[in-house]
Amino acid sequence: MPCPPITREESMPDPKLSSKSFTLTNNETGQSWELPLLEGSVGPSVIDIRKLYADTGCFTYDPGYTSTGSCQSEITYIDGEKGELLYRGYPIEQLAEDSTFMEVCYLLIYGELPTQDEKDKFLDRITYHTMLHEQINYFFRGFRRDSHPMAIMVGVVGALSAFYHDSTDITDPKHRFIASTRMIAKMPSIAANAYRYSRGLPFSYPRNDLKFSENFLYMMFSNPCEEYVINPILAKAMDRILILHADHEQNASTSTVRIAGSSGANPFACIASGIASLWGPAHGGANEAVLSMLEEIGSADRVDEFVKRAKDKNDPFRLMGFGHRVYKNYDPRAKVMRQTCHEVLNDLGIKDDPLLDLAMKLEKIALEDEYFIEKKLYPNVDFYSGIIFKAMGIPTSMFTVLFAVARVVGWVAQWNEMIEDPSQKIGRPRQLYTGAKHRDFVPIDKR
Ligand code: CMC
Repeated sequence: MPCPPITREESMPDPKLSSKSFTLTNNETGQSWELPLLEGSVGPSVIDIRKLYADTGCFTYDPGYTSTGSCQSEITYIDGEKGELLYRGYPIEQLAEDSTFMEVCYLLIYGELPTQDEKDKFLDRITYHTMLHEQINYFFRGFRRDSHPMAIMVGVVGALSAFYHDSTDITDPKHRFIASTRMIAKMPSIAANAYRYSRGLPFSYPRNDLKFSENFLYMMFSNPCEEYVINPILAKAMDRILILHADHEQNASTSTVRIAGSSGANPFACIASGIASLWGPAHGGANEAVLSMLEEIGSADRVDEFVKRAKDKNDPFRLMGFGHRVYKNYDPRAKVMRQTCHEVLNDLGIKDDPLLDLAMKLEKIALEDEYFIEKKLYPNVDFYSGIIFKAMGIPTSMFTVLFAVARVVGWVAQWNEMIEDPSQKIGRPRQLYTGAKHRDFVPIDKR
């Protein structure tokens, strides 16, 4: 008996209207408008401006959406001041310690932790969708051998819509469920293929007797000529990393997936757009950028020089792995990642890793520096994940790919939530136009 399709019995309730409201006044005309205030279950209230343009003739201006809520969601909650992250109400620290990535996937998608029976069915579903259509393996061969694996991911995931036509009707909950299952299940296979292709290794097929993270390590690192022995510490660390990266509210890539999906685009195309957005160094590409930065710094005695550069307004250099749009306190994921980082390095017997020593020195100096304290710039999750991946033998160019393997579950959960939310419209922001006013065309001989 398969898992039920991802669909809600009742649609998401309308947000609660607060007894308080905001009044907006036009100072010139004296005209006032009352703006309703909506309350979430926890966190700041939001001013409902949906009728603002119709009522006032004005738009709002908020580049980077620093004060804008784009949707109502029940999936993930972040309190950036406290440094708190909850998936469906459960603290990330507890999930990282006691749960598994598969259980977290179920939680994010269905809203509740599974019973044993539900978990077994879900695992079965995912396991039997891990294999790629054989023609997808041929598709990889069209890429240059030295292609960046994120470029391959964007291409191959977008191309899934050409292979799985039977799950692209977004109005059908069964189609959405199959497409979502396929994406979560096949991302590790695509990621492993991207890696193996760049190394000239034969593609590996999934093994159904292994757990999700074990299977991922097996597909990445196994050699057809030898038996592959799973290291349980590395498998546990990988599972934890996947949990920590699984969702993060309305971040750039998730908002990209939602905006792409708001036009009715098929789920594979939407996830490919999320992967493209994740690739940037200010977002998921930061874990790769951290390693490049540590390599560029080179030795602990140059840390001060780079910290100075990061503080210089005229220098574009930033300390990668520091700062976050939402967290103005220690990133809770970074705390867990820091501990996992030490566990992995101990298990692998890496005692004196110069890059890690350098990272620790950088972390200490930045945390004590007035500039970083004042701007509340703490190490984020990417600061440590890159070091763990390096210790595991994963090449730098694969770091963001691993982030995508985890985040796909968040994208899928948020995309499904959006499709089922009757209040969602096509994402279409407006602008403050500052270009030329109306003018007449000038023929080329008169310019
Ligand atoms: N190094 C030096 N200065 C920084 C840094 C940094 N890493 N991050 C922010 N600042 C400064 C910035 O210059 C600005 O200064 P001022 O107020 O004088 O203009 C102030 O701190 C606020 O920064 P912002 O750029 O306005 O903040 P933002 O919310 O737009 O950017 C960020 C957030 C994550 C893009 C940024 O902190 C950054 O570029 N960090 C490095 C890249 C990184 O580690 N990204 C991974 C984020 S976590 C993974 C994920 O969720 O994707």
